[in-house]
Amino acid sequence: MHTLAVDIGGTKVAVGVCDENDTIVRSWTVPTENDADRINETIAGLYEKALESFDDIAAIGVSAAGNVKQDRRTVNFSANIPAWINYDLSGHIEDLLSKKVPVVVENDANCAGWGEYVHGAGKGSTNMVMLTVGTGLGGAIVLNGELYRGSFGMAAELGHLPMVPDGDTCGCGLRGCAERYVSGSALERFAKAAIRRRPKDATRLMELCNGNVEDLRGPMISRAAQEGDVLGLYAFNKIGEWLGRTMAAISAVLDPDLYVIGGGVIAVGDILLEPARQAYDRFLQASAYRPHAQIVAAQAGQDAGMIGAANLSVR
Ligand code: BGC
Ligand code: NA
Ligand code: ZN
Repeated sequence: MHTLAVDIGGTKVAVGVCDENDTIVRSWTVPTENDADRINETIAGLYEKALESFDDIAAIGVSAAGNVKQDRRTVNFSANIPAWINYDLSGHIEDLLSKKVPVVVENDANCAGWGEYVHGAGKGSTNMVMLTVGTGLGGAIVLNGELYRGSFGMAAELGHLPMVPDGDTCGCGLRGCAERYVSGSALERFAKAAIRRRPKDATRLMELCNGNVEDLRGPMISRAAQEGDVLGLYAFNKIGEWLGRTMAAISAVLDPDLYVIGGGVIAVGDILLEPARQAYDRFLQASAYRPHAQIVAAQAGQDAGMIGAANLSVR
């Protein structure tokens, strides 16, 4: 038995054939087109291609950034794909398949979190929360070994925890969401603001963006921070502190034993995790009188979403 795992990201669609252990045995990536029909055709096309080598694909698991309904078929809303408003993503893809298999859709961070829980840093935990720090901030909640989806499928939209009253405007339309302070975009914003305030300290960052602040991207800030650059480290301290505050708020509700932090930004490891742990210890209620959750880096990397989607598609 095999499954086809699909990760629809902001820039690329990754598709992989997975075996019974959710190991990716064959994969393809294609650029994401911001058009719902094209995405469906791409996925169906790669499924047909996969069928040439694998005749026992039992299901297609799709990881998608957005709110996914309890039926695991419908996307209520996604900031990335405008057409995904109460959109039957499963149905649209299923219609295009020559050999019918079920298409199971789940929120991208839920997929990554489930992938980490089953095969990565979350193994052995009872109550785990994953936060994916990428362009946005995604969340996944595993309670007593089960992915928690809420009453309507919308649980674990942790990036939209309201952290700052009347704060920065978020892609979701609200203001002050955690995602505005903990994400790759937040990292860039903090670094750019620091460059403007402290131009004398900005030599390395300016060098990395070829003198054009607007071109400054997350990986450049990561690199500077890893070299010990003071502004690079400042930007990571900022998002780290907000990450810690966010986890303290989550612990007040869920009291998990483990936080797994993933997404592109986690490549810097403790440069992000140390300020996050410090802030968590500081803002956690009854901090000195209770056990603290462990805060660790994700293990499954870029593939966590596909691995989780594969596993969920036949569960
Ligand atoms: C979206 C989530 C998604 C996360 C990570 C957020 O902005 O609301 O649905 O999981 O970004 O992609
Ligand atoms: Na989620
Ligand atoms: Zn928001």
